Amino acid sequence: MTRLNWGMIGGGEGSQIGPAHRLGAGLDGLFTFAAGALDHRPDAGRDYGRRLGLAPDRAYGDWREMLDGERNRPDRVDLVTVATPNATHFEITKAFLQAGFHVLCEKPMTITVEEGEEIVRLSRETGRICAVNYGYTGYSLVRHMRAMVARGDLGRVRLVVAEFAHGHHADAADADNPRVRWRYDPAQAGVSAQFADCGIHAMHMASFVTGQEVERLSADTASCIESRVLEDDAMVNFRMSGGTVGRLWTSSVAIGRQHGLTIQVFGEKGGLRWAQEQPNQLFYMPLGQRLQVIERGEAGLSPEADRSSRVTIGHAEGMPLAFANIYKDLAEAIRARAEGRAIDPAADLYPKAEDGLRSMAAVYAVAASGKAMGEWQDARPPMFR
Ligand code: NAI
Repeated sequence: MTRLNWGMIGGGEGSQIGPAHRLGAGLDGLFTFAAGALDHRPDAGRDYGRRLGLAPDRAYGDWREMLDGERNRPDRVDLVTVATPNATHFEITKAFLQAGFHVLCEKPMTITVEEGEEIVRLSRETGRICAVNYGYTGYSLVRHMRAMVARGDLGRVRLVVAEFAHGHHADAADADNPRVRWRYDPAQAGVSAQFADCGIHAMHMASFVTGQEVERLSADTASCIESRVLEDDAMVNFRMSGGTVGRLWTSSVAIGRQHGLTIQVFGEKGGLRWAQEQPNQLFYMPLGQRLQVIERGEAGLSPEADRSSRVTIGHAEGMPLAFANIYKDLAEAIRARAEGRAIDPAADLYPKAEDGLRSMAAVYAVAASGKAMGEWQDARPPMFR
């Protein structure tokens, strides 16, 4: 099987998320890192691209140069990852989809709901894949959770409780640091800060594991550091398409919490609990029985979990390997399209443009509800109402 060619925009030297993408895309030998426009400073991007092993003519200075350089090559990239700051996602993703490339876009996919709808339409019209990097859904045991819920192990799901609460912006003395301040400034961050940055991961995961969409929500948003215009903490109640009740807490002022993404699902017949900082164990509480600890890599797990686990049981797998599962899904999806066959259902789990759009609608609903003292809002994008 020949490798697919992969390109990246953003993710330059010193960036937060670039290395996890390069590790994830490279892990299974499915993609060759073939092209990139890695930095907002053209020379720094070209230089870093060459140091990472790109051919000099494919280490581009900016994304438009990359689009021009790649579009007519016979060995052009099969997939482009967009890992630039949020406000640029829409323009870059749109341009690459229009030119016929498959795209994996970082979250949030867009800044507005209207842009999100445009990307969904474009992806459908062009027949190109537009995935969104809710990479934590790549963890093997998150996929197993989803499989357990889908096959009815918990019965009807009554309640899903999600958290993404960390403490990295809790220092009031540091709140004016320009690297922190922009996140809470509407002119640069949009209508929401913490929910748009972290809360959407937790909300998407609630949908992913339950197989249900968020329909309505009510939010209490707060700026715990008073100088902030946008929220640094939010508590969101929501209702899902299958009747499940949702609770979500997100915060950036929860001192002592590091990453802080957790998900719990409670059904008629049992409960499940998983935490991103302890991703190799899934806690399963069947009604009336004792607590069971499910280990990643053990025998008898779902096909979805087996497909997304690589290292022997007892050795930790972490976030870059979760990202690698998104890339593994995408390689299968790209090949299935090229060969005109159906995708392996255990691989059809990568988050899609529709998920990115639903998140944007939820962001706006949270902002509106927060302003209106928790008034319930329709959380669905207009095109899905
Ligand atoms: P960062 O600020 O650490 O790095 C951004 C990189 O993009 C830099 O190398 C910069 O030079 C480059 N860049 C900026 N504008 C560019 C342009 N026009 N063309 C080419 N390169 C450009 O940002 P970070 O934290 O890596 O975040 C990037 C994106 O990834 C954001 O949208 C963020 O929300 C998302 N993210 C997603 C995570 C996830 O778990 N899925 C986790 C962290 C970030």
